[in-house]
Amino acid sequence: MSTLAINGGEPIRTKSFPTWPTLDPADIEAFENIYNSRRWGVGGTKVPEFAQQFAEFQGANFGVCVNSGTTALYIALKAAGVCPGDEVITTPYTFQATVVAILMTHAVPVFVDTAPDSFLIDVSKIEDAITEKTKAILPVHIAGYPSDLDTLVEISNKHNIKIIEDCAQAHGGEWRGKGVGSWGHFGCFSFQSSKNLCAGEGGIILMNDRELYERTWALHNCGRTPPDAEFDNIEPFGANFRMTEWQAALLLSRLTRLEEETNLRHMNMRWLDGWFGEIPGIKVTPIDPRATRCGSHGYKALFNSEEFEGISRKVFLDAMRAEGIPIGYWYTTPMYRSSFLKSNLFGQDLDYSDVHCPETEKICQSGLALSQNVLMGSEEDMEDIIKAAIKIRRNVGELLSE
Ligand SMILES: Cc1ncc(COP(=O)(O)O)c(C=O)c1O
Repeated sequence: MSTLAINGGEPIRTKSFPTWPTLDPADIEAFENIYNSRRWGVGGTKVPEFAQQFAEFQGANFGVCVNSGTTALYIALKAAGVCPGDEVITTPYTFQATVVAILMTHAVPVFVDTAPDSFLIDVSKIEDAITEKTKAILPVHIAGYPSDLDTLVEISNKHNIKIIEDCAQAHGGEWRGKGVGSWGHFGCFSFQSSKNLCAGEGGIILMNDRELYERTWALHNCGRTPPDAEFDNIEPFGANFRMTEWQAALLLSRLTRLEEETNLRHMNMRWLDGWFGEIPGIKVTPIDPRATRCGSHGYKALFNSEEFEGISRKVFLDAMRAEGIPIGYWYTTPMYRSSFLKSNLFGQDLDYSDVHCPETEKICQSGLALSQNVLMGSEEDMEDIIKAAIKIRRNVGELLSE
């Protein structure tokens, strides 16, 4: 008789994991207040209030709210002075928006491989990729795991190159106790529906420098100066990339819960690391001890087929799902293999056929991922994930083809 659920055995669980986004009556009240205020857009108080509170939450001096994470990256690149033909160093293991934002400025993305097993840019390889055209470095704190910000800041200072942190997946993440997004010249976050702090759509750019703040403000708001401007119209040019009061009100309400939710996800992530690390064939992502809190927009690990009696990642994932665990993987293609880099709508025709990043290519094939809502589960929920993996490991013989 078969034990594994995929072969007809009893599954480890049939109940679902927490759903996202969570609902709270306080959010509805926030909406009603906006409705009754008749100030739904520019001139309202919620957008500036949220910008200030979120900047404080992540440890930055200023925040400029925009309509998406992609916009946040685009505006930050422009405020950093990135021009057509400049080069921007980034990671090939990311969501396409990171790369599309660079293309939107007509600059050229330069890909630096990820560090072994880490899913994050290998900071030891960045200096080799710097040329006289390099204008910015765009690290991505993927799944909320903070990149090595100490080294990034050091490189930035040494070469006078701007750092734009892509924090779209890293709300609440901290490096040496200080929020991600407050280390580089700019920190860009997304509030799209799946994100750990969400309002359907939206984004924010954080920064510490007043001059960069005023430039960013103008770029997102038709060239206007911010109400608290200290400089004379630093950037007289921009367009409408503004956030609405509805979004800001919802974000303010949800921000009150982010600290607790981030701690829960981080705790569950570390707990899963401890247990997965004991299972031959599953490798946990090394976490730098300076990454004091992970934004945990999901959980990541690596599957090693050879150490799992030769079964493929697909077979393992199918067996886990049959046990009731919604596990999958994220990116399967390194960004430099994206078809949109060749003859895209911004008129570029970029050829990356000679680019190979072996570590990224490896993780694209072997990565495992749980989404952030799963990390909002209870201790018992986490135990079920581990129980399912152990059950499959013990009964792997059932999955081996004759
Ligand atoms: C790493 C990364 N960068 C940028 C973005 C873009 O954010 P948005 O979808 O809000 O434009 C996302 C969001 O999906 C992302 O995951």
